[in-house]
Amino acid sequence: MSALSFDQATIRLGRRDILSAASFAVREREFVGMLGANGAGKTTLMRAALGLVPVAAGAIRVLDGPVTRGNPAIGYMPQNRTGMAGLRLTGWDVVASAAVGRRFGFGGLDKAARREIDWALDEVGARALAQRSIGELSGGERQRVLLSQALLGRPRLLLLDEPLISLDPAHQKSVVEIARRICDDLKVAILFSAHELNPLVNAIDRVLYLGAGAAVIGPVEEVVTGPVLSRLYGAEIEVVRIKDRYFVMAGDVDVERDAHRHDAPHGHSHDHDDAHA
Ligand SMILES: Nc1ncnc2c1ncn2[C@@H]1O[C@H](COP(=O)(O)OP(=O)(O)OP(=O)(O)O)[C@@H](O)[C@H]1O
Ligand SMILES: [Mg+2]
Repeated sequence: MSALSFDQATIRLGRRDILSAASFAVREREFVGMLGANGAGKTTLMRAALGLVPVAAGAIRVLDGPVTRGNPAIGYMPQNRTGMAGLRLTGWDVVASAAVGRRFGFGGLDKAARREIDWALDEVGARALAQRSIGELSGGERQRVLLSQALLGRPRLLLLDEPLISLDPAHQKSVVEIARRICDDLKVAILFSAHELNPLVNAIDRVLYLGAGAAVIGPVEEVVTGPVLSRLYGAEIEVVRIKDRYFVMAGDVDVERDAHRHDAPHGHSHDHDDAHA
């Protein structure tokens, strides 16, 4: 069984094929890093697995079943996490708000639900942080609290969309380590999107690269090569490896480093359906 599989799947937004007859599978309990330039389709791929974007052709399967909306087997941490800075709710309240009406019904939180929230916060080491208001947490602290939200209901597949965005290298490292440990301890498959391979390279099992409507999955040393990436980027790419660091170069430009270090909105928002994934 695979955690997530795309079989000749085409995903079309407007008149553009974001993915075109793409095939790959994320195995159970596997930690996969998903890379690709801005607009390559990382967010769209996750939204398709959540049933929020239709498949135009081919098939997507989650844990060998069909795609369904609100699938309790999937935990999702969306990319768009703006709008929290002014919030006076505590981290605990924010996590709890995802639990209410989602997996625990609308009748408020019973003891078991509260225990589950505390458990999820403990998994990411954020129980103490969650006592503070979400608006005053640093980006990295907030990221951990939101990551715990994705663990509610003990999913078997976690879709984490750019958890490293706007974090400094030390916090990036800690988020990647937490993801690795969650993958092992909770026996969950993780698809983790990022702009740069290097923060992930020592932690992931395999890498999934998107570009030019295609998806290629495999071990880093097989996928992150000049020929494969040239095809996905549609440009002449040279991969320079220095010890454990990879530099993806188009001419003199390191395309991953220069992509963007901050969240660059496309001018459309996915906010409205985030909580219902
Ligand atoms: N609702 C929509 N209608 C039309 N086009 C869309 C829609 N949503 C996204 N797109 C386009 O689909 C492409 C893929 O977008 P997506 O957000 O999946 O990329 P991404 O790989 O997540 O990018 P980033 O690294 O910037 O987060 C982009 O060109 C985007 O503009
Ligand atoms: Mg995205």
